[in-house]
Amino acid sequence: MDKKIANLLNDQVNAEFYASNVYLQMCAWSECAGLEGASEFFRNHSLEERGHMDKIFNYMAECGAPVTIQAIDKAPREFDNLMDVINAAFEHEKKVTAMIKNIAKTAFAKEDYTTFNFIEWFIAEQHEEEVLFGKILARAEMLDFDGSKGQKLLIMDNFLKQLAANS
Ligand code: FEO
Repeated sequence: MDKKIANLLNDQVNAEFYASNVYLQMCAWSECAGLEGASEFFRNHSLEERGHMDKIFNYMAECGAPVTIQAIDKAPREFDNLMDVINAAFEHEKKVTAMIKNIAKTAFAKEDYTTFNFIEWFIAEQHEEEVLFGKILARAEMLDFDGSKGQKLLIMDNFLKQLAANS
């Protein structure tokens, strides 16, 4: 495997690990805030990110490319409210999408169509994730939810619980 592609994939393994921690920390924040639905949603999402990491790890192993697990940055743990958490999650996913697109672009440029084909799954997955967080943001907008405590918070928490159950 081309060194540049191997490095990008290795970075992605570590980025997915970080993403898993980001969502686990959001789950912990939700627990402390008494938000059961959000907690369940973010815990599921954390496990999903761990699955993404495994997928790339396995691909690299199949290709005989060495994997280096780096030190993982501390995930953000201070949030003002649930709206702040949701916005942070959406922004995070946009960054991951950019990283995935860069892998696809590089694989294509280097005529590594095997990696290009492999990473296509992640392109579809990122689309799904952005749609998912877009849906949550749309619901928040519909409710005119700003993260404050009250009935709207309960509705948003229930919505996240419903999404967690369907995932
Ligand atoms: Fe693995 Fe949420 O991207």
